[in-house]
Formats: sequence, structure tokens, C-alpha cells
Amino acid sequence: MLVKEQNQSQVKTARETEKIEITLLLEAIFLQYGYDFRNYSTAHIRRRIRRHLELSGMANISAMQHRLLTDRDFFQSLLYDLSINVTEMFRDPSFFLAVRNTVVPILATHPFIKVWHAGCASGEELYSMAILLKEEGLFSHLQLYGTDFNDMILSKAKEGIISTAAIQEYTKNYQQSGGRSSFADYYTARYERAIMAPELKEKILFANHNLVIDQVFGEMQMIVCRNVLIYFSRELQNRVIRLFYDSLCRGGILCLGSKESLHFSDLQDNFTAIAEKEQIYQKNY
Ligand SMILES: C[S@@+](CC[C@H](N)C(=O)[O-])C[C@H]1O[C@@H](n2cnc3c(N)ncnc32)[C@H](O)[C@@H]1O
Repeated sequence: MLVKEQNQSQVKTARETEKIEITLLLEAIFLQYGYDFRNYSTAHIRRRIRRHLELSGMANISAMQHRLLTDRDFFQSLLYDLSINVTEMFRDPSFFLAVRNTVVPILATHPFIKVWHAGCASGEELYSMAILLKEEGLFSHLQLYGTDFNDMILSKAKEGIISTAAIQEYTKNYQQSGGRSSFADYYTARYERAIMAPELKEKILFANHNLVIDQVFGEMQMIVCRNVLIYFSRELQNRVIRLFYDSLCRGGILCLGSKESLHFSDLQDNFTAIAEKEQIYQKNY
């Protein structure tokens, strides 16, 4: 066998072994902790596990699996790594502008409005929505829910602390999203931290909810789940869209992230796009 062929075959074997190790690791996590990553996108999982392996200094994924099964804190750190928590205030301002212009008039027809942000990470998206709905006069009959399957990130969200380093960018986002006031009205800055206004915090209930294994969250007028489905396989995306369908009232609004869509979903005919570019859909009556 030529050296080149031999090398190629070794790489192939190593890849196959890694694939088996990852499958076993995900199975072990599911059996031990009930977190189901088995249907997450393979490339995403592989990248994060490789990174975690490198940081942990362990010899291979099998060694990592043993530690995971016996050490909950180690599992928590992997969980943190597996869930990408990147977020920002008024992320994609054009999305929030579309909510103001297109969704608010629909929400305003409901006597009480419940909005669920699934996969809310550290809460910036949720606080942005609270500000927007306050400015649009819907605050008095509104309840916001923020859920994530990661407890560490949820406690950060509950604190309502945002980074002052990003304030300039957030202020720009806020203005581009059609903000009617000054962004500074909604936080108090202390050293390197800015704390969201108590009136915003009071409107939000946070809870642990795992989109893969947990059930319907309640009957909502709007569900916002942005930049979460991209990490899921097609099959899992379908399950989660079904969960959202079952959790929405008739005429309820579903908002996905800019790289997500209902196009390939089994339930796409049960929704109508009301701001297609911004991935905002309405459940059919
Ligand atoms: C990239 S962040 C998106 C945050 C926010 N929605 C945004 O777009 O700015 C993805 C979030 O989804 C959460 N997540 C991933 N899988 C989840 C699951 N199965 N159930 C609930 N949350 C999940 C992660 O913990 C993370 O906080």
C-alpha cells in the first residue's frame, strides 16, 4: 500500500472511531442526566466535544465519558460548552422593527398576551422584547417567559446584567429597531455592569425547559425561538416546531432566527409567513 493511501486509511479509521465515541458519549449523557443531544447537528457537536477534550487535557473521548458519568460538575461544564449562548440586545434590529410594525397590531387584539422565548440564553433578547412591548403600550396585559435548558445561563438571565462594553452597539441596535426613547432609560450602569430596570425584570418568569424532552409550555400568543434550531437535526427541528405549534393559540406568532425557516418543516402549511425575510410566521386560524 502506498504511504498516501495508508495515511488516508488511518485518518478514516480515526474518524470512524471518533464517531463511535461521540455516539456513546451522547448516549451516556442521555442515560445519566436526561439531556438529549443525540439529534443535534453532528458538525456542531463534534466541534464542541473536540474543544472540550482539548481544554480538559484528557487523552480521548472515552476517558471524557467516564469522567462525565461520575462527575456532575464536569458534565455541567460540558453542557455549558455544548450550548452556544451568544446573544445580544436587539440582535438583528430589522427583526425587532418587523415585530413593532407587523406583530404588535396582531398582539394588541388579545386581551392578555403571553410571550415565550425558548432558548433565551442570558436574556438580552427577552429584555429587548420587554422594552419594545412596553413602548408599544402592551405592558399592562403582558407576561413574558424565558426558558433555557442551561441553569447557569438562566441565573445570569435572572440577574438582568448586561455588559457595559457592548452598550454602544446595543444603543445603535435599539435605535435601528425603531426605539422610541433612549436606551439608557432602561438600565442603571455601575462600573462594568449595567442592570436592567426592575420593571422589565418583573415582567419575566424564567424556567428550565428542555426543547428536546419537555412538553408544551402553555398557550402562548407569541413564541420566539431564534438561533437555537440551527443546532438541531432536521428530525429534531420538526419535533420542536410541533411543540411550538401545540403551544400557540390560533393566530399565534412564531419567530425564528435569520438562518432558520419553516420551509422544510412538516408543519409549514399550518403557518403563514407575515414577515418572511425576518422569519416571522402566524399559526393559521
Ligand atoms: C445562540 S443562543 C440563542 C439566544 C437567543 N435566542 C438569541 O438569538 O440571541 C442558543 C440557546 O439555546 C439554548 N438551547 C440549546 N439547546 C436547547 C434545548 N434543547 N432546550 C432549551 N434550550 C436550548 C442554549 O443553552 C443557548 O442558550
